[in-house]
Amino acid sequence: MKDEFIPYGRQAISEADIEAVVEVLRSPWLTTGPTVAAFEQDFARQVEAEHAVSFSNGTAALHGATHAAGIGPGDEVIVPPMTFAASANAVLYQGGTPVFADVCPETLLLDPHQAEARISERTRAIIAVDYAGQPCDYSALRALADRHQLLLIADACHSLGGSWQGRPCGSLADLSAFSFHPVKPMTTAEGGMVTTDNPAFAERLRRFRNHGIDSDHRQRAASGSWYYQMTELGYNYRLSDLQAALGLSQLPRVPEWTARRQQVAARYAERFADQPLIRPLRTQPSAGHAFHLFVVRVPQRDQVFAALRENKIGVNVHYTPVHLHPYYREQLGTGPGDCPVAEAAYAEILSLPIFPGLTDVQIERVADCLIEAVATFNGATA
Ligand SMILES: Cc1ncc(COP(=O)(O)O)c(C=O)c1O
Repeated sequence: MKDEFIPYGRQAISEADIEAVVEVLRSPWLTTGPTVAAFEQDFARQVEAEHAVSFSNGTAALHGATHAAGIGPGDEVIVPPMTFAASANAVLYQGGTPVFADVCPETLLLDPHQAEARISERTRAIIAVDYAGQPCDYSALRALADRHQLLLIADACHSLGGSWQGRPCGSLADLSAFSFHPVKPMTTAEGGMVTTDNPAFAERLRRFRNHGIDSDHRQRAASGSWYYQMTELGYNYRLSDLQAALGLSQLPRVPEWTARRQQVAARYAERFADQPLIRPLRTQPSAGHAFHLFVVRVPQRDQVFAALRENKIGVNVHYTPVHLHPYYREQLGTGPGDCPVAEAAYAEILSLPIFPGLTDVQIERVADCLIEAVATFNGATA
């Protein structure tokens, strides 16, 4: 249908997904049980990590990562501003202080030089955000973290299916956090995961998502014991077996979905190659880009945005730089001028629809509309 609304992202649910969830509904375990364990195992294998620990959403996963990393009051963590607020909030939850370091102008990924310039004797970790699905420069960030004895945490909420120098996102940092929100590379409705190669981190993550208790309900059922101890303060951040069934069913389709996202991105790039006012972000040569988002920079962004929305194209803006949010300005004293590259980009960025089910006809409709709107609001006489 020509005038159907096209969102910027949308989940893909198959009959097999539905059956997998229904099967769990008929089983004795609804919350964290055998399907969660199976999902974690398959996920770890797919991203080539030793351990995967599921969480109730990506924000909880990030909180688990900052907790496992031992972030606490007085600690500083380097975070880029071009991200969803949750990346920095996860530092605040632990009582730490996010320190914003600017991004590279062509990729909007954390700039390793800017990150290094913000390191102090209080810095404990770097949160690398794989913005739009493109992995950060993990070669440079790993070297930087090692040089300063910092932990490297990946906010990989956009980048499942991506890779850096052939190694999958999820295996590139000390702790990597994923989100399974419906617009993300795969979904469990709400859900998240942390991957790590460190068994002590994995154990801490499991305890943290279960109130800080040293055994879970299923382990106690298996051993016939009622006894448990709470050894630290945790939360109820558990994923359910219902959600894990959906995740387990979705996971094997991620590579084919990533390939389709890359095709969509390649077609947009082709359409905009002769449009100097429409500037897609750059993909680094070592990156396998998961294209959670397809972001372009355009002049007169607000007018272009309104024109596309009027044409039922669900463009979006990712993101308001986190240091500009009122809460951060009030609590941390951040503001304009702190990260000029992110602030300049914010005035121009637009996320175009990209998801596996986007059709070839829809891609052309989006590209036509964008080219026309940019021409209209930038003085073209065509
Ligand atoms: C970069 C980034 N980090 C963290 C999150 C939080 O994930 P969730 O919505 O699953 O809590 C999101 C998703 O909204 C995100 O885009």
